[in-house]
Amino acid sequence: MDLVGIDIGGTGIKGAPVDVARGVLTADRLRLLTPQPAVPEAVAKVVAEVVGHFPADGPVGVTFPAVIRRGRAESAAHVDKSWIGEDVAARLGDAAGRPVVVLNDADAAGLAEMRFGAGNGRGGLVVMVTLGTGIGTAMFIDGTLVPNTELGHLELDGREAEKRAAESVRERKGLSWSKWGNRVDAYLRHVEMLLSPDLFIIGGGVSKKSTKFFPYLHTKAEIVPAQLLNEAGIVGAAVAAAEAR
Ligand code: BGC
Repeated sequence: MDLVGIDIGGTGIKGAPVDVARGVLTADRLRLLTPQPAVPEAVAKVVAEVVGHFPADGPVGVTFPAVIRRGRAESAAHVDKSWIGEDVAARLGDAAGRPVVVLNDADAAGLAEMRFGAGNGRGGLVVMVTLGTGIGTAMFIDGTLVPNTELGHLELDGREAEKRAAESVRERKGLSWSKWGNRVDAYLRHVEMLLSPDLFIIGGGVSKKSTKFFPYLHTKAEIVPAQLLNEAGIVGAAVAAAEAR
């Protein structure tokens, strides 16, 4: 069964139909720019355009960079603050003319990795960390998601961890792999001190350059790069839509 998954980020809104049994995209993805400011009406219009681009029908899964409870945003990162309190599922569903299931972006990426990627078949406590514009996290206990963990906002050296160790910070400040890798290491070890996970999965675009910074990571838990790369959010969103049916 193909369902459309859409990944809303601070710079791009990407979507594609997904074979939810196999976790693969069944057509090229469409990426449109996130409107600026990323206010509800403008974002909903772009999401409707992405949905309309693909023939697949049925519910649509959408990721959102915020705490999402019962379809509603309780925070807003990398999108306009006017989303806070908004029923994201209803707003996007009205615009697209289809039922929409919304979940946090890192939770979606984690779901995809647990089903089809680096976490497949892994029990115990697994923490997925996405290093991108911010730091997103997803936590799984024996494969079951504990949503909205938001561990990217933990304090690290007096600042929010994502302000020091996100991939965007490495790029913006031109940090060396060793300098940034040590920051990521300090962050992961802090999370490990609190939660003692069995496995860390590192996602976000930079995960494909894992050989550059994994040598600086020294947690007790095993650390592996994500496998679905740019597609994890889209796949996880579609899986969430399939499961909500
Ligand atoms: C947000 C999270 C999001 C993460 C990655 C953080 O700033 O608070 O909700 O998952 O960025 O986009």
